[in-house]
Amino acid sequence: MTPQAFSNAVLAWYDQHGRKDLPWQQGITPYRVWVSEIMLQQTQVSTVLGYFERFMHALPDVQALAAASEDQVMHLWTGLGYYSRARNLHKTAKQVVNEFAGEFPRSVEQLSELPGIGRSTAGAIASLSMGLRASILDGNVKRVLARFLAQPGWPGETATSRALWAAAERFTPEARVNHYTQAMMDLGATLCTRSKPQCLLCPLSSHCQARLLGTPAAYPESKPR
Ligand code: ADE
Repeated sequence: MTPQAFSNAVLAWYDQHGRKDLPWQQGITPYRVWVSEIMLQQTQVSTVLGYFERFMHALPDVQALAAASEDQVMHLWTGLGYYSRARNLHKTAKQVVNEFAGEFPRSVEQLSELPGIGRSTAGAIASLSMGLRASILDGNVKRVLARFLAQPGWPGETATSRALWAAAERFTPEARVNHYTQAMMDLGATLCTRSKPQCLLCPLSSHCQARLLGTPAAYPESKPR
């Protein structure tokens, strides 16, 4: 399957089935997308919804977050868990205000240097809020790609991770990269689930190597022990 056929299939699915009504998909700014992506790293969408709205109401922009007290930030995060995320969020806001004049840097490389922003989160911010051609590889997208390629190996191994990142970059389109990124996350979250994937509804199933082998749930491989 050519990269263009791959992204076209994903985008056509997005137009019909992708999520378009999430709060961080409205009034899109790098700040809103960044906060939502950090919240969504270890927390499911249904839980994040209320926290996100409350956080944005209290701290509507990066200047407000940078100026907030540690106490206020931690209070807004209470219940979400993984509290280093909140401390990194606060640190990054101060850095964006003090070192970047309040504007998030517009490259994956620079975004990845900020506290708490890894390569995939940087790709999500760049593609979803800036329209830059950048790729993501979060847990959901790893599963979609590992199955599509029947990629052997555990994604925690360097060689496997490299292969999956190479695929992620190859398939990322030039146009509509925001919709493509959201669609890949949604595919992993809703159809290409860890157990019992719904291949019959998947726009990639006819070319999915794991499905053709008859064992989609065998990918990605788990950590060797
Ligand atoms: N998980 C991580 N990022 C997400 C997003 N933008 N929408 C829905 N789920 C997500």
